[in-house]
Amino acid sequence: TTATAVIVAIDGPSGTGKSSTSKAVAAQLGLSYLDTGAQYRAITWWMVHNGIDITDPAAIAAAADKPEIVSGTDPSAPTITVDGTDVAGPIRTQDVTSKVSAVSAVPEVRTRITELQRSIAAAAPHGIVVEGRDIGTTVLPHADLKIFLTASPEARAARRSGELKGADVNATREALLKRDAADSGRKVAPLAKADDAIEVDTSDLTLQQVIECVVTLVEEKRATK
Ligand code: DC
Repeated sequence: TTATAVIVAIDGPSGTGKSSTSKAVAAQLGLSYLDTGAQYRAITWWMVHNGIDITDPAAIAAAADKPEIVSGTDPSAPTITVDGTDVAGPIRTQDVTSKVSAVSAVPEVRTRITELQRSIAAAAPHGIVVEGRDIGTTVLPHADLKIFLTASPEARAARRSGELKGADVNATREALLKRDAADSGRKVAPLAKADDAIEVDTSDLTLQQVIECVVTLVEEKRATK
């Protein structure tokens, strides 16, 4: 990372437009991009694939160092592999989605993935947009800019069920709120807004408006660096 590299942390619950916004901002500004949720999904996929009992935190902890997780950070074509296998598809299944909160609550998993995230951010030549739940609070507390995206449960459920093509909005809303409660309630590095994060409520904004808002904030930061 060079002196002018800019580190941007974007946190918030699911369905706030975090991934779409982060990717677009990184692409527009020539920055790298890291989807930390994909890393937690990848380690969860590996646990399931290898028959680890995900109701047993000790078993998860014992296996936390085993899979090799590699993230490709080009915002126009992000990739994720586990032990060399492309898992971009399998990590988005309902099965992985329903288990990822339990796996990502295990401290050994968080330590492992957090170290990986910090080394990826440090290696980004022009800086990076890192999206997740605990980036501004825990992973990169010295980020140049911290954004916390929010949206009403209704707006988030509507977006998610749109993505899942025809999924029931009410069921989606319940599943999403359940996962947020688990992510916000865990002991280690819960989903939380950092004190110095800028909160953006995206409920009544288009994706394009959110992108423009964040791009402007990053450009202002870069200008004063
Ligand atoms: O953003 P996502 O829905 O792909 O994230 C999947 C899960 O990973 C989420 O439910 C909680 C966990 N996660 C986390 O604990 N910390 C992060 N920085 C990112 C995701």
